[in-house]
Amino acid sequence: MIHRDGNCTSLWQDHTGIYKSDRDVADHHYDVIVIGGGITGISTALLLQEAGKKCLVLEARNLCFGTTGGTTAHLNTLLDTPYTTISKNFGEENAALVARATKEAIELINTNCKRYLIDCDFMEADAFLFAQDEKQERELEDIRKASEAAGLDVRYTTGIPVPIPFTKAMQAKGQAKFNPTLYVHGLARVFEELGGAIVQECPVQAIEKNDRMEVITIKGRFSAVDIVYATHIPPGINLLHLRCAPWRSYAMAVTLENDQYPEDLAYDMHDPYNYYRTQVVDGQKYLVAGGMDHKTGHEEETGRCFRELESIVRQHFPVREVCYRWSSQYFEPADGLPYIGHLPGEQEHIFVATGYSGNGMVYSSVAALLLRQLILQEPSPYTELFDPNRIKPVAGFTNFIKHNADVVKQFAEKFLPAENIPGLSALAPGEGKVVKYEDQKLAVYKSESGEVHAIHPVCTHMRCDVKWNSAERSWDCPCHGARYDVDGNVLTGPADRALEKVGVSTLATEQGRH
Ligand code: FES
Repeated sequence: MIHRDGNCTSLWQDHTGIYKSDRDVADHHYDVIVIGGGITGISTALLLQEAGKKCLVLEARNLCFGTTGGTTAHLNTLLDTPYTTISKNFGEENAALVARATKEAIELINTNCKRYLIDCDFMEADAFLFAQDEKQERELEDIRKASEAAGLDVRYTTGIPVPIPFTKAMQAKGQAKFNPTLYVHGLARVFEELGGAIVQECPVQAIEKNDRMEVITIKGRFSAVDIVYATHIPPGINLLHLRCAPWRSYAMAVTLENDQYPEDLAYDMHDPYNYYRTQVVDGQKYLVAGGMDHKTGHEEETGRCFRELESIVRQHFPVREVCYRWSSQYFEPADGLPYIGHLPGEQEHIFVATGYSGNGMVYSSVAALLLRQLILQEPSPYTELFDPNRIKPVAGFTNFIKHNADVVKQFAEKFLPAENIPGLSALAPGEGKVVKYEDQKLAVYKSESGEVHAIHPVCTHMRCDVKWNSAERSWDCPCHGARYDVDGNVLTGPADRALEKVGVSTLATEQGRH
């Protein structure tokens, strides 16, 4: 089973084993090093390897550990940011370019599946967006007009694939769905066969710019001409952290009492909206539903999101069993389009792709195609459109990447007696909470067996306080989306250093068992 960035298990994670690399990596010199082994990293690395570049992928955990293992895997040209917004912010011509780029991305995935015989259940599907009141109908008409102007094949329809009441609905052709972990593992295998190298369990500790880019990891030093951050959000401190807001979305895979599984993709128009589709995994059909999105670290009780999502699904479908529940992170860009290209502040040799909103599966391939062209120094119609440097610097903000900054140690060398930690005995197994200890804050978690894990709850990225995520049993930073496990280890960037761990006396363990 693939390990992923949370306590819950996703449908994809449960049915795909950890990727086993075929090759020993003896060489330390490359043309391109891609940091991050999700769909963006592997797709980009494969395109560059195909083009003759010698590439290395460095992954901190295992392939698909992050959002690629937690997506619901819709492949859309009908995007989360409606074409009405894209046209308003970027003009009609650019909206058409976005539609073209996402169409090409779906074609790339389809072509890869066929060319390399990747069995990942890629399937073309239509998307249905449905309104449930007059206000939504007016919005739907605006979206239909703008989508059509952008070049999408859209039309009004009288039927939708889900048994949910609606007043008006639009059908968009040319969408698709697939199994993301099988796809990425398939690409990774081909990448290695073409001579590419993958190193997993290999967090990057620092990057030095000399004649070449030097990447320092726990498994040694690697060098390359170009570096790609395919880490969902780049590490360090960068303008992009001020332009991408971290959000979480909730998903579940359920079986139904009847066989009325929707083959196509369906979306309501609530804010946040709910989405539905079907996937067959290992011979079993699942309805995959999602929604209940909120800003990371802004929901007091994340378990509520699963309960409400389940209640919505049960309202409309005869659910036999809820088989999987999981949540996942995405980054919402300030102006509605992703940032793909040169990392702001770095005109050469460091590239980034982030801010995919809820369309990471398709934008990852948009990014792979564009990054390939940028690194090969070929012209692309999309360079300016997705340029991360389109954002204007904020006055007084220093734009830099900084790694390994000193962590201020609050609890160094201390071993706290459990009986002195307020509220610990009242904490139920499986719960986490930030408590006051003397004049400091302390984040404590009690495991099911009563073991206490304590950390200093100040994010190592830019020092915001982290918040407890009960659904995924993680500490999430509301500022830029870094996430940590109960021992403070990094699950999601931009942080690249663990939270300070605090020792607690064994008495806590005994308390927890009472
Ligand atoms: Fe930036 Fe925590 S992620 S301060």
